[in-house]
Amino acid sequence: MTPRRGRLVAFEGVDGSGKSTQARILATTIGAVLTFEPGATGLGSALRHLLLDPGHPEPEVRAEALLMAADRAQHVAEVIRPALEEGRAVVTDRFSGSTLAYQGYGRGLPVGELSQLVAWATGGVEPDLTVVVDVPLAVARRRLERGAADRLERGAADRLERGAADRLVKRSADRLERLDVRFFSRVRDGYLELAGADPLRWSVVDGDADVDSVAAAVRQAVEQRLGDVFDEERS
Ligand code: TMP
Repeated sequence: MTPRRGRLVAFEGVDGSGKSTQARILATTIGAVLTFEPGATGLGSALRHLLLDPGHPEPEVRAEALLMAADRAQHVAEVIRPALEEGRAVVTDRFSGSTLAYQGYGRGLPVGELSQLVAWATGGVEPDLTVVVDVPLAVARRRLERGAADRLERGAADRLERGAADRLVKRSADRLERLDVRFFSRVRDGYLELAGADPLRWSVVDGDADVDSVAAAVRQAVEQRLGDVFDEERS
């Protein structure tokens, strides 16, 4: 008998929202494949460097959307679709919602056109549920700054890792520099609008609390919408 197609849960939110931590906790809880965008495949990793490393020239916004879509097409083909077809649950840290929120609401590309691009890139694979971890921008900024400081401290403790830590901190600093409040406030509002327009497939969780409380809220949202993910885990 062919196994039933697995469920796909995507986590979304602005940088510093805590969504990666929450994606990891949910994946562990339900025994799902944990993955992320951009960069989860060989091609994707090269694209991630091109897109995010400070040394590369910033792409034009349509080029940025196309490169994100290329990463997603490879990610679906190599990681997500095979796992879903095996009947496994998949949790991804970012998916199509990021392109709609960042390149659409954030950078101003038409969201309807991006939806078509995203549907074409994924061959129609859509999350069964997208969880937005929502935080005020001041909280996101504080978390990003704390993350950069932690990485610097860890790098200093291990001289061999210093080069890598420097690169990480540089990347964080670069992001902080790019943390233009108006841009991120459009991204955040975009997520809330997307979620409001499709309440069956999107859920907004308040991320401005301690990790365990947010994890409990995520669990409740997933259980409400996709209770069978937990049932399968129990069986
Ligand atoms: P990450 O730090 O969560 O891995 O995200 C990397 C950055 O890429 C983050 O600033 C959001 C951005 N991004 C987009 O702009 N569009 C997309 O489609 C994706 C997947 C990420």
